[in-house]
Amino acid sequence: MTEIARLALKVLLLLDLLPFGALAYTWSFQSTPTQCSNLSIAISGGGTPPFNVLIIPSGSTPFSNGTEVRRIISKEFSTSSISFPINYPENSQFVAVVSDATGFGSGGTSAEAEVETSSDSSCIDASQSVTPDWFLSIENQAIVQCTPARIFWNPSNVTGTPTFFGIIPGGDSFIIPEVGINTTTDGTGTGFSWTPNIREGTILNIVGNDNRGNGTGGSSSVTVSQNLQNDNSCLNSTSPSSTAGSPAGGSYPTSTSGASTGSSSSSGGTNVGAIVGGVVGGVVGLLALLLLLYFIRRRTRQNAKNNEKPVDLLQADEGDERPNRPAQLPEYYQPDPFIVPDPTSGDESGSSAAPFSSSSERPTSSASTHDATSSSARKSAVPRTLRPVNIVQHDDAGAASTTKEEEPETIELPPAYTNIRK
Ligand SMILES: *[C@@H]1O[C@H](CO)[C@@H](O)[C@H](O)[C@H]1NC(C)=O
Ligand SMILES: *[C@@H]1O[C@H](CO)[C@@H](O)[C@H](O)[C@H]1NC(C)=O
Ligand SMILES: *[C@@H]1O[C@H](CO)[C@@H](O)[C@H](O)[C@H]1NC(C)=O
Ligand SMILES: *[C@@H]1O[C@H](CO)[C@@H](O)[C@H](O)[C@H]1NC(C)=O
Ligand SMILES: *[C@@H]1O[C@H](CO)[C@@H](O)[C@H](O)[C@H]1NC(C)=O
Ligand SMILES: *[C@@H]1O[C@H](CO)[C@@H](O)[C@H](O)[C@H]1NC(C)=O
Repeated sequence: MTEIARLALKVLLLLDLLPFGALAYTWSFQSTPTQCSNLSIAISGGGTPPFNVLIIPSGSTPFSNGTEVRRIISKEFSTSSISFPINYPENSQFVAVVSDATGFGSGGTSAEAEVETSSDSSCIDASQSVTPDWFLSIENQAIVQCTPARIFWNPSNVTGTPTFFGIIPGGDSFIIPEVGINTTTDGTGTGFSWTPNIREGTILNIVGNDNRGNGTGGSSSVTVSQNLQNDNSCLNSTSPSSTAGSPAGGSYPTSTSGASTGSSSSSGGTNVGAIVGGVVGGVVGLLALLLLLYFIRRRTRQNAKNNEKPVDLLQADEGDERPNRPAQLPEYYQPDPFIVPDPTSGDESGSSAAPFSSSSERPTSSASTHDATSSSARKSAVPRTLRPVNIVQHDDAGAASTTKEEEPETIELPPAYTNIRK
């Protein structure tokens, strides 16, 4: 057990030392996201300032009249923590992405987090919906695995050239590559074609940004659709995905909509808990493998221990008969009387049936059973040639009892498997 633990620790250390992914630092929510209270985020383990946290509303608005009050929030900070109001209503969800100077999404992406209820609703004005500065559009409103999709906009509403983020809750976030921007006349405005190298079934949020800031174009949530040709040629091990294990952000409530990657397994408080991304995936896989190996080994050892018990041929055959009659032998092994022909008289066809006794009682005897049958055939013609046979009751496998009459349950036997037991 301890050697396994030590090995696991070694693997963990090894993985930590490896240049595994870009997650040189981690972040976590410092408090439970609650309606009308500040959201606090802390960075640990380094990172290159300035940091940025992007909060994207997720899921539908909690208001039954469909009013949307949540704005995309992008906050820059250079210290190791930040606290800011998000003003999202209770029971609504969001996803947070933390970046540093090394690139967008470098700190990891949280799963869908839920805003907890609070008696304070002063920050919420649901009288009218908020709207972004411009709208990002996706042709056919669908993203299909490995199939080019056109992302476009109305250039008259956009300041500068927009950029787009792809955000996978509890997974990777990335900047959508923009090549070949052109303008069409068929109503798909100005845009570009992007081939999503994202596996079908993945939830993807696309966020539009322009020179005025991040999220000015709103966000659109889609589930990557199946490629009808089963084309997965665009996918490889570095493709953006939702990652196994704990998502970024530490411990926080998640929505019950099911799409979130169970953050229940994320351990709050400890520094270890906030490891995210590929490292977590790899470590979880390795630990699972080590545990599996450990249990396999333990079972093998247990089996070996069980196998040390002597093989019981009787038990396999006779089943539960034995426990009922422990003093008796199974039917197979009931002794047949050994008929020994009387060597002295040629009279009644060797009918002097004598059961076995100890060797002292019968130093010599006439014949083996084989001879008895063959001799009876020639008995009339030729006088029987009797050869001396010593019958010895071996008692080196267990002493045989000699007092037959006094103890009727005692049966004398040739060496039997059952007697070998010590
Ligand atoms: C919430 O955040 C704002 C802006 O960062 C700050 O001014 C305010 O003091 C914070 N409020 C609390 C209660 O921490
Ligand atoms: C929507 O409903 C909320 C509460 O349910 C209410 O405060 C708000 O005024 C409503 N908004 C509109 C536009 O009707
Ligand atoms: C974008 O521009 C078009 C035309 O210039 C205008 O009709 C539309 O309302 C604008 N949309 C936004 C969100 O400002
Ligand atoms: C714009 O680019 C897409 C591919 O990126 C292409 O299919 C389309 O024909 C182009 N449209 C124009 C007007 O050039
Ligand atoms: C938008 O996000 C990027 C990547 O996180 C960041 O570098 C940039 O500073 C952000 N811009 C604004 C205006 O917040
Ligand atoms: C994975 O695919 C991307 C394009 O989708 C490519 O840029 C990258 O080099 C590929 N990586 C590997 C390891 O094949």
